[in-house]
Amino acid sequence: MAEITSIDIDIFAEEVKQGLSGFPKTLPSKYFYDEKGDELFQAIMQLDEYYLTRSEYEIFQIQKQDILEQFSKDGSAFKLIELGAGDGTKTKVLLKHFVADGVEFSYAPIDISGNVLEQLTADLNENIPNLKVEAVQGDYFEALAGLNKNHTSKEVVLFLGSNIGNFTNSEAEAFLSELSENLSQGDLLFIGFDLMKDPDKILNAYNDKKGITRAFNLNLLTRINNELGGDFILANFRHVPTYDPVTGETKSHLVSIKDHSVSIEETGESFHFNAWEAIHTEVSQKYSYRMINEFAEKSGFRLIKNFTDCEENYVNSLWEKQ
Ligand code: AVJ
Repeated sequence: MAEITSIDIDIFAEEVKQGLSGFPKTLPSKYFYDEKGDELFQAIMQLDEYYLTRSEYEIFQIQKQDILEQFSKDGSAFKLIELGAGDGTKTKVLLKHFVADGVEFSYAPIDISGNVLEQLTADLNENIPNLKVEAVQGDYFEALAGLNKNHTSKEVVLFLGSNIGNFTNSEAEAFLSELSENLSQGDLLFIGFDLMKDPDKILNAYNDKKGITRAFNLNLLTRINNELGGDFILANFRHVPTYDPVTGETKSHLVSIKDHSVSIEETGESFHFNAWEAIHTEVSQKYSYRMINEFAEKSGFRLIKNFTDCEENYVNSLWEKQ
């Protein structure tokens, strides 16, 4: 992912200041993804404990023909738009299958990172030369605004990887409603949700034995040290994920092991941590089928079909705009 520019540094500093001044203390998870963070997330996706990526991959591998038939009734043309495309590893399974089938479609990956998009486009041009790729750089909301209401062929929006889980439920509902308003009747949304399951399995996915997820979480502090002139000592913080089996809320925290202060030059302030005070750094919401249904209904969609993996870890849910 590209380095943030100096103008964005002010926004970064402001958000860090806000988050560390409040109670409970928070830091926005979007700042995980600098170059090192991208690398660590790639490593997380390879971990034995991190079942999410494998589950979604399996759904695509095994059910790609069924998925194609749902996207394209009687072989009709469509435009595939992917929000937060990243490196596109899983999506490629579908793209290859669709191209081999000969169905008429184009692919528009949208990502905040121009760097990631360049790599993805080059990779696709090389490996699937017959695919029409039209990459768009921007955040989700810019992307939504850019979706044309008067398009000629049906739009199919992909929102994969349980990326929706980084939103709280009320943020997710607002996001899905806004997405729905930018689509036309009959357009589709294919969206990945990580399901509620054995709490130990979830906690292990966010606390792997190799400590990669811990490093991913702590990288947020390294980034504040490097880009905002902070003096965080990483050894003063513990990586602590939690899972609430009632609500499905999975959260990551950095817990201060002692009473101490940290100063951050760019914010012009120092921040005090009590012993065992936590910074909440990320939500990775888990869902029930009931919640998925409710989200679809409340945001102006009709649920057409849920695709799940053999172990029923994960769902790709297909919704139609009403
Ligand atoms: C990319 C947001 C889906 O929440 O599971 C992985 C990010 N955080 N391990 C997730 C993440 C810690 C991931 N998402």
